[in-house]
Amino acid sequence: MLREEENRALIETGTGTPMGELLRRYWQPIAAVAELDDNPIKNVRLMGENLVLYKDKSGTYGLVDQHCPHRRADLSYGIVEDCGLRCNYHGWLWDETGACRQQPFEEVARPEARYKERVTIKAYPVEAKAGLLWAYLGPAPAPLLPTWEPFTWRNGFVQIVFAEVPCSWFQGQENSIDPVHFEWLHSNWGAVLRGEDGPRAPTHLKLAFDEFEYGFTYRRVREDTNEDDPLWTVGRVCLWPNALFTGEHFEWRVPIDDDHMLSVGWFFNRVPKEQEPFVQGRIPYWHGPIKDPQTGRWISSHVMNQDFIAWVGQGAIADRTREHLGESDRGIIAMRKKLLEQARVVADGGEPKGLVRDPAENACVRLPIIGRDRYVNGFSKAELMNEQVAGLFYGRDFVFQAGQPAEIARAYRQAMGMEAG
Ligand code: FES
Ligand SMILES: [Fe+2]
Repeated sequence: MLREEENRALIETGTGTPMGELLRRYWQPIAAVAELDDNPIKNVRLMGENLVLYKDKSGTYGLVDQHCPHRRADLSYGIVEDCGLRCNYHGWLWDETGACRQQPFEEVARPEARYKERVTIKAYPVEAKAGLLWAYLGPAPAPLLPTWEPFTWRNGFVQIVFAEVPCSWFQGQENSIDPVHFEWLHSNWGAVLRGEDGPRAPTHLKLAFDEFEYGFTYRRVREDTNEDDPLWTVGRVCLWPNALFTGEHFEWRVPIDDDHMLSVGWFFNRVPKEQEPFVQGRIPYWHGPIKDPQTGRWISSHVMNQDFIAWVGQGAIADRTREHLGESDRGIIAMRKKLLEQARVVADGGEPKGLVRDPAENACVRLPIIGRDRYVNGFSKAELMNEQVAGLFYGRDFVFQAGQPAEIARAYRQAMGMEAG
């Protein structure tokens, strides 16, 4: 159970709030590279700030205030130029550094005033990596945008999946360190939803949570596993500060504001050896629905949709003054403590944990990964079919989130060699 002010400190992400300042020290994924190729201007609301993301005609990305500093017109209706984004109202031109490049009438009427040198727009750096566009809203110098190990893997089909979830980012992040929910929310409830009446999923017997440089690992022993199983020897990763990493996919919980979050999924499927070399020209992306338009109820058919149901069910902002934590929540307690402690480090002018600043290290930032060899060295189709978990998913529709577009499902099947290209 938390005190009201601790709860607030964990969920508020606006500028000047403890968590807002902490999260601003880390690059946040905000869109897909391909999204801006389809449409070069996008509205982005991030940690309560209304912004416009754009790609100009020379390929430079910018993230600027939604409102033009002249008379506050909406720059998401602007015009992308060779260099920068031009306001559609009176033509002032802004670049990715926040500088004003042109003020058409001012330069005619009073060029000697050099007015444009005295106006700037709020602007944040943007970088592309792994098919995603990332923003950094913190103070300079920005840390490096981490090259997480899976971003260096080859011969994989990658897709990026978004969903806007109407609740606090922190409910999502608590789920990143909640091993027991798999047994109930996904296995047992999933079976109930499918109308299956079989035996319950193997129950959890033992849990461990350990901190490391880039977050926490959670490890488990279930009725059907023992301490030699990689679920115990390696575990899965609650990635600092706002993501889950399972070995082949990431899920970031990016605060839109205090009661909305953007779920950003990055999924890697290594293609079988028979399909190598496989090079993906464009990493596809899609936005999944979370509500069934027919019934008005949340969609429950897919793994992450089930998670969303749990999170929004806790309320837009969970009232943690009324919870009753147990042994299964030891990881959550450790993570909350660490976040509050690191927020104090930032408030005291220090550098929080987990920032990457060494370019040599950033060539590939390693994480605990169950089954690393299979991702790095590959496997044949026959080997894949024999694998307990992966074999089960091979050939099936995307299980993680509802709404995968048919053309992406087809591209996946072709990449995997399940359908002729
Ligand atoms: S409001 Fe943007 S140029 Fe006037
Ligand atoms: Fe889950």
